[in-house]
Parts: sequence; structure tokens; C-alpha cells
Amino acid sequence: MATTPEQGIPQQPMKYPFPDGHRLDVPPEFAELRAKCPVQRVELPYGGEGWLVTRQAEVKTVLGDPRFSRAATVQADIPRTQEWLNPGGDILSLDPPEHSRIRRLISGAFSRRNVEVWRPRIAELVGELVAGMRAAGSPVDLVDSFSMPLPITVICEMLGVPASDQHFFQRFSELVFSGVGVPAEDVEAASDALTSYLAEHIARHRAEPQNDLLSELIAARDEDEGRLSEEELVTLGVTVLAAGHETTANAIANSVLTLLVDGLGTELAEHPERIDTAAEELLRFIPLGGSESLPRIATEDVTLGEVTVREGEAVFPAMVSANFDEEVFTDPQVLDLERPHNPHLAFGFGPHFCPGAQLARTEIRVALATLLREFPDLRLAVPPAEVPWREDTALIRGPRHLPVAWHP
Ligand code: HEM
Repeated sequence: MATTPEQGIPQQPMKYPFPDGHRLDVPPEFAELRAKCPVQRVELPYGGEGWLVTRQAEVKTVLGDPRFSRAATVQADIPRTQEWLNPGGDILSLDPPEHSRIRRLISGAFSRRNVEVWRPRIAELVGELVAGMRAAGSPVDLVDSFSMPLPITVICEMLGVPASDQHFFQRFSELVFSGVGVPAEDVEAASDALTSYLAEHIARHRAEPQNDLLSELIAARDEDEGRLSEEELVTLGVTVLAAGHETTANAIANSVLTLLVDGLGTELAEHPERIDTAAEELLRFIPLGGSESLPRIATEDVTLGEVTVREGEAVFPAMVSANFDEEVFTDPQVLDLERPHNPHLAFGFGPHFCPGAQLARTEIRVALATLLREFPDLRLAVPPAEVPWREDTALIRGPRHLPVAWHP
């Protein structure tokens, strides 16, 4: 049994991850731990015991302090939720300075400035999707007709892969984001298929460069092989493609669902100037990622709260829990669409802070503003309990379909 060395208090490990509960519920264990034991010993399904961190201050330390490493999780038999070991090779499995070398290659494409260049195209796509919804007539499935195609089309156009292939890679990237319960072979096969899809695409772009991120990355690779290996190039493309749409698509669907269930859509439609603040609050409040998070390994003994994490131990930073930290947010359990100060961690913190945050924010804001303006009486077409849910993905939560209706 682990003890907190300063106090000598024995800690009974809790089983982790906690059940995510119903749909977008936040596991109740987080609030208990924030109050009683913010750095908790936990036992994982594979690889033994580690620590779970639930308050924002310590979560930020684990995400931002270089003494906590992602690279040390690669191919290591560490405490983990899945049977397979982290194969590595992706940006989320690197520490600075290797991480910074890769990160620099994509940060320009997703910078605030470049996202602003893309804003008119995002607005245009949203307009087309809304027109499609109108043409189909009420009711429609918002997932198929709006929340999924928007981020897929945007990331495909930015990266430079045809959105018409989306049915192919969407299925695969969903599996890549799956968690407990999906066989390791399925995930591996999905990842391999997505990798060979992109490798073929890179070969075509190499022969005929375009004005897109993939061509930029190929040029970076070909000008100086030290900047990016061929394998890194493919993996980076796969990561951007998968991370760039599953997350935003579910964030949009979950936001619309939450607004409609809570009856907040009409008021927000009357106050479009509140959309940006409301979108931030929806990002904080909706636990898109559920209870699981990617572990970090301590590279030396580190004092965290009242606990000493020993060198080599795994720590799980619970960003979802940090977003409900009573020491940071007033009434965190309340969805306050006008919350004035909202330093949430929905996009992470530190070197791995989501490079797509500005793109995701822009898509979510334009999507919500346009939907509420065009369909001021938008409502669920089925009772909330009958909204079909994605059961096969543990890492990203959201509805499988979202039937919505309006008065024509
Ligand atoms: C609502 C939408 C999104 C959410 C909530 C989200 C959330 C996150 C979070 C929490 C992390 C950090 C994970 C960690 O440190 O353990 C992350 C990393 C990442 N995200 Fe996002 N993301 C979203 C959209 C996007 C988009 C649109 C892109 C497309 C570019 C993207 C690409 C990435 C990449 C490449 C990383 C790894 C960064 C690194 O390791 O340096 N994400 N995201």
C-alpha cells in the first residue's frame, strides 16, 4: 500500500478509470477526491498502480512540468487502461525538444492568424450544411447532416485530402479513439489502414505539390530530413486528420444537445453576442473526454500536493475534474453561459496544449451562432433518453445520431 511520505498516511488504491456513467455525466468520484484526496493512488486494469490528480493546480503541474514525461510511456509496461503498450511515434508521445521540432511544423497552419484566413470558408460550409438541412426538411440527424461533415471537410481541406474519402477514414479514426472493450487487433488494423491511406496520399502530393498542410510538411521533410522522418510525416498527418474532426464534431453535437435539453437555445439565439462566452462554458462543462486521460511518468521524485510521486511512477491528470474545481470556478456544477472568467482545461495545458484549439473554437462558435440564428426554434425530435449514443468510443463521448426538428 502506498503512503504519503510527509504524513505517513496509508492510501487504499481506487480502481481507475471510473465508470463514465450515463452519457455526459461526470464521474462523482472526482468531486469526492478534489475535496478529500486530490492526489489519489489508483489501480489500473493493466500495469499496476499509479496516481490520479483531480484539482486544477496539480493537473497543470503534471501537464506543464518537464519532470512529467509522455516519452517515458512509449513501449513501457506502465499502468494503463488498454492492454496494448503505447507504440509511440506520434506527437503526443514526445517530450521537448523532439516534441517542439514536430510541433513547430504544424503550429503555423493552426495559428490564430491562419484560422482567421479560414473563417470565411468555415462560414460558407456552415451555410451550405444549413441549406442542406432545410432542403432535407425537419426532422434531420444533426450528426450526419451537420456536426460531422463540418470539421471533416475543414480538416480535409486544410490538410489536403479529399473530403469524399471521409467515409473511409472516419470509420478508422473512430476506432483509433476507442478505449476499453475494443480488441487491440481492431485498433491496430484501423491505425495501419489509416496510415497506408495517408502514405499513398503523400506519394501523390509529393509528385504534385498543392497549397495545403500536407504539401508543406512534405517540403519540410524533403528539404531537411533532420526535421521530420518519413514515418513521422505520415503519423503527423494521421494524428491531425483524426484529432481534427472527432473531437470538434462531438463537441458541436454535445453542445447543441446540452443547449436543447436545458432549454437554453432560444435565449442564446436572442443574444448572439454571447456565443463566444457560451461556447467556452460548454467546452468547460461538457466532459467530452470522459474520465480517461493520457498518463505522464515522473522522471524524478516530485512533490505533488501532499504526496511524493516517485521516479518512474505514472500520473493521470484528470482534465475533466479540473474543469469542475471549486477553487477555480464559482458554482462549477452550474452551466453558466455568461461565466466571466473561465480558465478551463478542455484543450489541455503545457507543451501538448491542443494546437487545434483556435480552429475548434472557431468552428464551434460559427456552427452554434448559425444554427441558432437559422433555426431559432430548434428542438430535439425525440425525448433526450432516446437520442442514440456512441457506445464504442471511450475516449470521446457524444451522440451517434441527434434528431432535431424546427418549424419550416
Ligand atoms: C473541441 C475540440 C478539441 C478538443 C476538446 C481537443 C482537446 C485536446 C486536448 C485536451 C489535448 C491535449 C491532450 C494531452 O495533453 O493529454 C489535445 C491535443 C492535440 N489536439 Fe486537440 N482538441 C480538439 C480539436 C482539435 C483539432 C481541430 C485539431 C486539429 C489540428 C486537434 C489536434 C490536436 C493535436 C495534434 C494534439 C497533440 C498536440 C501535442 O502533442 O503537442 N485537436 N487536444
